[in-house]
Amino acid sequence: MLMTRVITYGTYDLLHQGHLNLLRRAKELGDYLIVGVTSDSFDRGRGKLNVRNNVLERVEAVKNTGYADEVIIEDYLGQKIDDIQKYDIDIFAIGSDWAGKFDYLNEYCKVVYLPRTEGISSTQLREESQTVYRIGIVGSGRIANRFVPETKVVNGAHVTAVMNPDKENGKSFAKIYGLTAYTNFDQFLEDVDLVYVASPHLTHYEYVKRALQADKHVLCEIPFLLSKDQALELYGLAEERNLVLLEASKTAFFPAFGHIVTLVKSGIIGDVVDVKSSLSKMVPPPTRELDAAQAGGAMTEHASLTLLAIIKVLGIEWHDVDFRSRIENGVDIYTKGVINYPHATASFTLGIGVKTEGNLVISGTKGYVYVPAPWWLTDFFEVRYEDQTKNKKYFYGYDGEGLRYEIQEWLSMIVNNRRSCYKLRRRESIAIVEIIEKYIKGEKVTAI
Ligand code: CTP
Repeated sequence: MLMTRVITYGTYDLLHQGHLNLLRRAKELGDYLIVGVTSDSFDRGRGKLNVRNNVLERVEAVKNTGYADEVIIEDYLGQKIDDIQKYDIDIFAIGSDWAGKFDYLNEYCKVVYLPRTEGISSTQLREESQTVYRIGIVGSGRIANRFVPETKVVNGAHVTAVMNPDKENGKSFAKIYGLTAYTNFDQFLEDVDLVYVASPHLTHYEYVKRALQADKHVLCEIPFLLSKDQALELYGLAEERNLVLLEASKTAFFPAFGHIVTLVKSGIIGDVVDVKSSLSKMVPPPTRELDAAQAGGAMTEHASLTLLAIIKVLGIEWHDVDFRSRIENGVDIYTKGVINYPHATASFTLGIGVKTEGNLVISGTKGYVYVPAPWWLTDFFEVRYEDQTKNKKYFYGYDGEGLRYEIQEWLSMIVNNRRSCYKLRRRESIAIVEIIEKYIKGEKVTAI
C-alpha cells in the first residue's frame, strides 16, 4: 500500500500543548508528516512582530515533539501549493481556527481542519510572560495620533497617559484613546514607565531630560534635538542612569531600509560615490512648520530622515557641508544641502513650500540603488546596472503606519537591556543633530 503523506504549517512559537495535540492528530492522519515552520522574515512580513523563538529554536522544538518525519521552512506566500506538489502530499492539515481559509488547496490535495485545543495559544503565552509597560505620550498632535494604534500590535506596549499643557487639547486626545490626560509633567511621570516625546521641536530637550532624571526610558520624535551639546548631554544622562534613549527616526527601523543599507555595504553597487535624498511635503499656512518662532522650516522638519539615509550609507566622517535655502517669513521653505566626504559626495533636497520628487538614489562604481518616493516609507527599491538585464527589484511590505517597528525596537532594547541599536547608533543620531545645528547657526547657509 502507498504511504499517506501529510503536511501542516505553523509558527510554533513557545511550543505548547495545543501544538502537540495538533501535530499528533496530523501524524495520525497518515504515515509520514512534514511540518512547515515559518521563517522569521516571513512571519515579520505577515505582521507577526512578537515571535519569541527564532526559526532555529522553533524547528528544534517541533523536531523534539517526535511527531515530524521532516521539517521544512515556509518562507513565501504561495509556497504551500509548491510544497504539496513537490513533496507529493495527500493531506494538508491545519487547526480549525483556519476553517475554510485553505479550501483553495483542495485542488492539489485533501484539506483537513483539525480541532483546535481550547484555552491556549502562543499569543496568550507571550502576553502572560511579558511585562506590560505603561507608556505616556508627551504631545497630542498628528504623530501622536498615529502612534497609539501602532502600539496595539507590539506586545508589552500599553499607552495609558498623555501630557499636554493645553488642557482641552490633551483631554480630547485622551478621550479618543481612553487615556488619562495630564497638564503637570511631574505627575504624568509618576504614573508611567516609558515616555514618548512627540511635542513641538523646541520642547524636546526639557521633556527628555526630565523624563530621564525621573528614570524613564525615552523615545523622542524627530528632529530629536537642535544642538549637538544637548544630544551629547542627554545620551550621557541616559547612559549614566542605565536608560534607553532612542530617536524615533522611523525609517531606520523599516525592514526595507535596513536591507538597502546591508546590500549596499555588501558591495552590490561597488564603492558608493554619491547619495542623493529628497523629501518634500507642502504645508498650507498657518501651521507650526511655517512658524519661525517654533523652529519651523524644511530643515528642521525633514532633514532628520534625509540625513539618516546619507549617514547610514556614508558614515559620520564627512568633512564639510554647505546649504542653500529659499527663505520666506524667516523660515526655509526649501533647502538644498551638500555634504562632502573624503571619497564621496551627498546631497539632500527638502521642501515644505517647494515640491519635488522625494526619492533616494545611492550611486556606486558598479550600479545604483533607486528608491522611489516616498523613500522614507520604503516598501520597494531597485538595484540597477548599466546592463539592465542584471537589474533587481526588491519588495517589502510594512504594516500600518510603520511606526510599530521603532516601538518594537524601543521595547526590545528595554527588555534586553541594550543601550544602543545598530539600526540607529547614538553617534549617528548625534551626527544628524550636528548638521542640523550647523544650519540653524547659519554656517555655510546662502539664501537664494
Ligand atoms: N493550534 C491548535 N491549538 C491551539 C493553538 C494552535 O491546534 N491552541 C494549531 C494551529 O491551528 C496551527 C498550529 O497549531 O495548525 C500552529 O499554530 P501557530 O500559529 O503556530 O500557534 P498559535 O498558538 O495559534 O500562535 P499565535 O497565537 O501566534 O497565532
